[in-house]
Amino acid sequence: MSTPKERHTSRHASRPAPRRVTVDAHAKLNLGLAVGPRRSDGFHDLVTVFQSISLHDTLTATRTARGFTLRVRHEPAAARGRVARPTLRAVTSGPDNLVLRAARLLATRLALPGGARFTLVKRIPARAGMGGGSADAAAAIAALLALYGRRLSAAEKTACALELGSDVPFAFVGGTALGMGRGELLRPLRLGAPFRAVVAVPDWRISTRAAFQRHDQVRKGLTPWRHHLRFARTVGRQRVEALALMRRGNRFEAVLGRRRRDLDSLCARLRAAGLVEPHLTGSGSAVFAIAPRGESVREIVARFAGDEPLFTVRSVRRALRLHVHAPVARPGKGTRTGAPPNAGARGRRRTRAS
Ligand code: C5P
Repeated sequence: MSTPKERHTSRHASRPAPRRVTVDAHAKLNLGLAVGPRRSDGFHDLVTVFQSISLHDTLTATRTARGFTLRVRHEPAAARGRVARPTLRAVTSGPDNLVLRAARLLATRLALPGGARFTLVKRIPARAGMGGGSADAAAAIAALLALYGRRLSAAEKTACALELGSDVPFAFVGGTALGMGRGELLRPLRLGAPFRAVVAVPDWRISTRAAFQRHDQVRKGLTPWRHHLRFARTVGRQRVEALALMRRGNRFEAVLGRRRRDLDSLCARLRAAGLVEPHLTGSGSAVFAIAPRGESVREIVARFAGDEPLFTVRSVRRALRLHVHAPVARPGKGTRTGAPPNAGARGRRRTRAS
């Protein structure tokens, strides 16, 4: 009798690589974020808890003979309002898009024999601290691995991810995770209870690099770094609660400069609508707050006074969902063996992206 591992391996060995896959790539929030001193490589050590949320982009990849192309379609996903034009324009289909950068990186590393045509349905607001670009990069890598039937070890995947951005390692793992180092040292945590939140996206933007630079300049009122490291050592022995993590605060709120008043105004309006504990995610500028259990999120959104687009989200346990478009045999229509590759109805198989 075969072991579960052998059965798993043989299943994969007999399955032809698909020609087309679709990956749902989920946004993230930071439930608390502390920043340490600048390191010799120019980056900063962090202590944060990443949380995947239901809002996602969708990337479809089709195998081609050579080269990579990308088409981007923006799909409005806000429960109220619309994301400002400049934010939409920030995501182009040009060579700097993280999908294409990730694809080129992987193709070089693994010497892939062909290319892919990508279509990205973009719903996650860009440059808002929600990890949208990182999610798309991870999705591109997961898609190519599936299309070409290849694998990367965890260490290779982290190395690839870090070349693309500090949030990309989490974008592969998802769920709830303590993030340290640049964000690549990840420890899965158990979320005590799922939550619903509202994310507001102001039309101003913050450069992540500038936010870290301001952190270096403003030391006043900073909780000693060793307190955060102590928290990181002890967190996760039991289940974590989103609100308790958020109350630890986000370091970038203290270094917003002239935008601080905008943040305070937005937080006050989110509270007035009935939301709890508003905070920046990442270096901003998106602000999220928890919807109290038992209250109608729709009514909360309707009560909000402001022009900022609002997204209603919930915590989810994965960052990537891979759907394989594979030819499958029609049930009851003869034997599967020897059937031509296109015989039968086309099917979609959902798997965990690895
Ligand atoms: O890695 P990512 O592209 O998100 O980083 C953008 C910039 O933010 C980096 O070039 C660096 O200046 C800064 N950064 C940092 N420490 C981190 C993450 C980012 O200093 N942990």
